[in-house]
Amino acid sequence: MGSRKPRNKVIENVLLLDIAAEGKCIARIDEKVFFVEGGVPGDLVDILVEKDKKSYAEARVYRLKKASDFREPAFCSHFGVCGGCKWQNLNYAKQLELKTKQVKDAMERIGKVTEGEWFPILASEKKTYYRNKLEFTFSDQRWLNEADMAPDAPKDFNGLGFHIPKRFDKILDIDHCYLQPDPSNQIRLWVKEYAEANSLSFFNLKQQTGLLRNLLVRNTTANELMVLLIVAEDKPKETNALLEGLQKSFPQITSLQLILNQKRNDAFSDLKADTFSGKPFVIEEMEDLKFRVGPTSFYQTNAGQALVLYQLVAKLAQVRPTDHVYDLYSGTGTISQFLARKAGSVVGVEYVEAAVADAVENAKQNKLSNTKFFAGDMAKVLNAKFVRENGHPDVLITDPPRAGMHPDVVAAILEMAPERIVYVSCNPATQARDLALMKEAYQIKEIHPVDMFPHTHHVENVVLMEKRIA
Ligand SMILES: C[S@@+](CC[C@H](N)C(=O)[O-])C[C@H]1O[C@@H](n2cnc3c(N)ncnc32)[C@H](O)[C@@H]1O
Repeated sequence: MGSRKPRNKVIENVLLLDIAAEGKCIARIDEKVFFVEGGVPGDLVDILVEKDKKSYAEARVYRLKKASDFREPAFCSHFGVCGGCKWQNLNYAKQLELKTKQVKDAMERIGKVTEGEWFPILASEKKTYYRNKLEFTFSDQRWLNEADMAPDAPKDFNGLGFHIPKRFDKILDIDHCYLQPDPSNQIRLWVKEYAEANSLSFFNLKQQTGLLRNLLVRNTTANELMVLLIVAEDKPKETNALLEGLQKSFPQITSLQLILNQKRNDAFSDLKADTFSGKPFVIEEMEDLKFRVGPTSFYQTNAGQALVLYQLVAKLAQVRPTDHVYDLYSGTGTISQFLARKAGSVVGVEYVEAAVADAVENAKQNKLSNTKFFAGDMAKVLNAKFVRENGHPDVLITDPPRAGMHPDVVAAILEMAPERIVYVSCNPATQARDLALMKEAYQIKEIHPVDMFPHTHHVENVVLMEKRIA
């Protein structure tokens, strides 16, 4: 929204009808579908057309004419610019309704799923400060707002915060983020202030220059705290001084880690982390289980809701003491160990070697001797030889990343034909695509959407399938 005269075409009085898969609103004008950013369903708006194709158009809200009944005032000062919590202006009940609809649309349109009992979406108890991990990016070219562009505004271009949507090189400097509890905000602000006071260079994402690259903060239900600093230059004197100061100012940090990343991209799960102080991991607790989580390991980010999710998985899996279970994409082995307490044995497979090492150690600490974990790319690991060597699964859990399962993985699952499959997904579109490949052999019994990420359009979905009787 803005008051300057736009260059692109404006269309007045458009009613926003619904939400599309990526969280944008849908409007229909003369039979054409418009994907509109910046509004909520029920808003009457003027829109600015940004892309006009033959079959669809993309636009953003230019002026709000009449607010939808589902609107709520956003509580974050960064709302609208930050890509983080785009649904803060939508009431939570409506968010849940739209997430359920998103899953239903994917199941019907992509998966052509016509069977299965639908269960109400499981709401997240916490709506703010629900994340246990945030990753911030340093930039010497932060995103400038209108106030920054005033002639007398201070010329400070350093930023530490989140990527502006669709702008890989622009970082929004964050004052306060409502996603992670204290002391996440204080730590980020301290690091930025220290870096500026000591003239440490912030990374330039285009030229790939500068020292400070990323900062990751991870807190846990067991009150542990990990800070991981990622630098792009090997400058031990500068980085050590920063880390020493940070540890002194925040004695509650139980694990302080450093990674040197000189690659062109920000991904660091394949890099080695050095422990500067404290332990090389943090401990998470769930029911009577403890999990150590290393700096590069995956752990569900909404810990409270992760427990709800795992309890649901355990309920659907219905493992018996004689069952042999496969847990695919097992991360630090959380689901494996949840189920190992009741199952005969569990085999976990996961890509990140450090996560597998954590899973093995976690099982040992939790005194579970009936688990085995393997590291490798699922499409390569999961084959007839693997099943011969590690036993045929009665029950299979799969929890792939957003891309879903590789077709070879789906084929391998169909080949090994477990009695029951529980498919956990953070992307209903790829889940529906995979279900379409499996539904001839498997009956879809239950569908359970779960909200892990309030104020975003993201939704988790858990599907229970059972082998059809031939
Ligand atoms: C959504 S997470 C699930 C983790 C775990 N089930 C949990 O709940 O904590 C997906 C996991 O898949 C792993 N992964 C991604 N691609 C993979 C691949 N090609 N082969 C094996 N694992 C993969 C990731 O490292 C990540 O740990």
